[in-house]
Amino acid sequence: EKGGYEHFMLKEIFEQTRSIRDCLRGRIYPNEGRVQLGGIKEYADKLKNIDRIIIVACGTSWHAGLVGEYLIEEYARIPVEVEYASEFRYRNPIITEKDVVIAISQSGETADTMAAIQMAKERGATIFGVCNVVGASIPRLTHAGVYTHAGPEIGVASTKAFTAQVTVLTLMAFYMAQQKGTLTQAKLVELLTELDHIPEKIEKALESNALILDIAHKFKDSRNCLFLGRGSGFPVALEGALKLKEISYIHAEGYPAAEMKHGPIALIDEEMPVVVIATRNSSYEKVISNIQEVKARKGVVLAIVTEGDTEVRGMVDYCIEIPDASEAFLPLLATIPLQLLAYHIALLRGCNVDQPRNLAKSVTVE
Ligand code: F6R
Repeated sequence: EKGGYEHFMLKEIFEQTRSIRDCLRGRIYPNEGRVQLGGIKEYADKLKNIDRIIIVACGTSWHAGLVGEYLIEEYARIPVEVEYASEFRYRNPIITEKDVVIAISQSGETADTMAAIQMAKERGATIFGVCNVVGASIPRLTHAGVYTHAGPEIGVASTKAFTAQVTVLTLMAFYMAQQKGTLTQAKLVELLTELDHIPEKIEKALESNALILDIAHKFKDSRNCLFLGRGSGFPVALEGALKLKEISYIHAEGYPAAEMKHGPIALIDEEMPVVVIATRNSSYEKVISNIQEVKARKGVVLAIVTEGDTEVRGMVDYCIEIPDASEAFLPLLATIPLQLLAYHIALLRGCNVDQPRNLAKSVTVE
C-alpha cells in the first residue's frame, strides 16, 4: 500500500508529479488560453463583478490560502483576505451577499472551517470549497467548488494535498482573470502552457532527494530553525516551518524575510539554521541582502535557488536547486525540497513521520 516507499509521507511527496497532473486534467486548454472549472461555472458571471474574496482555512490549508491571495490579487485583481477559520468564526466579521468565501480543506471535515462557512452562508455570501475528500461535510455545505483530486492522503503531515490546493487556487486565479479580462489571451496561453509542464518540473525537483538527505544530517540536531521568504515565497517558508515542526519536533518559524530585522534576527548565531527561498524572481536582490544579514551574524544558511544559480551559491552553506519557472509557479516547486527536508530530518531523529505525536489527520473538534 506504500507502493515500495518506506512511509506514506515519502510516497505522497513523490506522488506529486501525478497528483498535480490529475488536478490539471480536463481543466486547462493551453493552446486556447482557456481554463474550465466545471464546479464553479454557474458562478462565472458573478466572478466578473465581485468586490472581494475571503479565504478561510486552518494549518497547511491556510498556507495554501496565502498563496491563493497572492495569485488572485496578481492575476485577477480581486482583493483577497485570508483568515484562520477559528478566528474568523468568532469575530463577527463583515460579510455581505457580494462576498465570495473560499474554504480550503483537505479532509473537508475541519470543525472550525465548517463553522466559518456556515456563518458566512447565513450572512448571504457565496461559498466555494477547495477540498480533497469527495462528498465530505464541507463540500456538502458549499454552493460550488473545485476538488483537488490528490487522492487519499494518509500521512498526517499534508504534502500532496497542499500542492494540489495551490494548483487549484492557481487555476481559480487564472479562471477569474479570464472572466474579468485582466489577463490577455496571449498571456493566458503562455501561463497555461507553462503550468501544463509543471509536473515535469516537480519530477526534476524531486531528484534532489539524495542531496537533501545529506543536508538533513547537518541539520538534524538543531533545536531551532528559521524559514524566510518574500512574496509568494513567504507562505512557502511558513509551510516549510510547519512541516519541520510537526514531524521532527524542532522548533521552526516561518517569517517574511524583511521582517527578520524587526525581531528574529536577535536569534541568529552559528547554531541557527536559516532556510531561505532565494529563487531568481522579482525579490531576488532583496533576498540576497537578507542572506547577507544572516551570514554577517554567522547563521547557517540553506538556500532554495533556481537551477544554475551561482550568486547565492557563493554566499551560503548549502544550496538546493529547483527548475526555473515563472513567479506564479514558484510555490509549487519551492515546497518540494522543504517537504523532503522535514521528512529526512524527522526520520534521522527517529520520529514517526506518518503519525506525529498529538496530531490527527482530521480535526473535527474545535
Ligand atoms: C499540517 C496539516 C494541518 C491541516 C489542518 C487543516 O500538515 O495537515 O495543519 O492542514 O488541520 O486540515 P484540512 O485541510 O483537512 O481542513
